Amino acid sequence: MINKETYPIAQLIRDRRTIKKFKDKKTPVELITEILDTAVWAPTHRLREPWRFIAFIGDGRKKVVQLIKSESEKGKMGRPLKRAKLEYLLSIPCHIVIVMNEDPRTKVWEEDYAAVCALIQNFQLTAWERGLGVVWKTDEYISSPKFREGIDVVPGEKIVGLLQVGYPDAIPRYSKRIPATKKLTVIDRFMDKDKKDKFKLDINQSNVFFDLPDMSKTAAIQFAGEKLVELGYVGEAYVDSMHEKESMKSTYLGNGIATPHGSKSAKEAVVKSGIIIMHFRDGIDYEGEKVHLMVGIAAERQYHLDVLLKVSTMFEDIKNSEKVFAASSLKEFINLFEKVDEESDLF
Ligand SMILES: Cc1cc2nc3c(=O)[nH]c(=O)nc-3n(C[C@H](O)[C@H](O)[C@H](O)COP(=O)(O)O)c2cc1C
Repeated sequence: MINKETYPIAQLIRDRRTIKKFKDKKTPVELITEILDTAVWAPTHRLREPWRFIAFIGDGRKKVVQLIKSESEKGKMGRPLKRAKLEYLLSIPCHIVIVMNEDPRTKVWEEDYAAVCALIQNFQLTAWERGLGVVWKTDEYISSPKFREGIDVVPGEKIVGLLQVGYPDAIPRYSKRIPATKKLTVIDRFMDKDKKDKFKLDINQSNVFFDLPDMSKTAAIQFAGEKLVELGYVGEAYVDSMHEKESMKSTYLGNGIATPHGSKSAKEAVVKSGIIIMHFRDGIDYEGEKVHLMVGIAAERQYHLDVLLKVSTMFEDIKNSEKVFAASSLKEFINLFEKVDEESDLF
């Protein structure tokens, strides 16, 4: 056993063994306290620190050993413990009972039990680093009412373990472990099954009007309407309804983007759902707002909502809008637009 301040943690974890044979050498209470003081740095949810400890050393050991004797004899159907076993128990330099507060809520109970187990392992490792060995005992007697009463463990508390501690007299040579690789499933790919159903804006050379000259808002809406007609998305009547809609409520979305579309009454004028995109490098005046990108929508209700949600998500971050507005060619514009569309969907 290495006993240096610079004991690498991985080595310490691997080296530690459960110890059952101890030297006839005292474990000072100061050392036990010091080890416990490190062990309490175990993770504990909401810092509940759901533990307390009862240490039996010196003559105090007789108290716990007597209880072990009477309670384990019951468990073995009345068979008395052999003298050698009693002498062994009395020779163990220190017995520590680890007590947990039992919360009636299952989730809290489980978290607390996990925290106490982590504390026990901290104790075992710190003890090992200090040259001490430990066995974590969970024999049936730790739950027996007489044993609990005998050491003043009250209802609402659970004994998680009895730790027997001392300087090792013999260290078991090694304890095998199955390599973790045999129990490990690695997931390093993600195939989104829903991906194919994801809503993507249809953008191509024919429905993008790049780097348009300055124009009024009305002229821009007229342009958008005419292009939707030309592309076969809507009938002529739709164009008027776009102006009508706009006069009722501006379709300015924010971040330099507007989404002109027809009113509900023009539903019949929609032939098929689709969009057209207009780009103004320097922006046009849109009732005091500057619009660089117009997404003209011809749609049935669901598609309309999908487009609005998509465009809002894509350009929620002004950096995305600015990047797309600044495109230097139609090709770059389409590439940037598609990239922002792709990246706007985390899933
Ligand atoms: C929750 C728990 C309960 C244990 N209870 C006992 C016990 O009652 N008696 C015992 O001799 N060892 C007990 N052990 C120790 C294990 O037997 C021991 O960790 C195992 O044999 C592996 O040996 P190692 O600790 O040297 O790697 C317990 C360990 C754990 C984690």
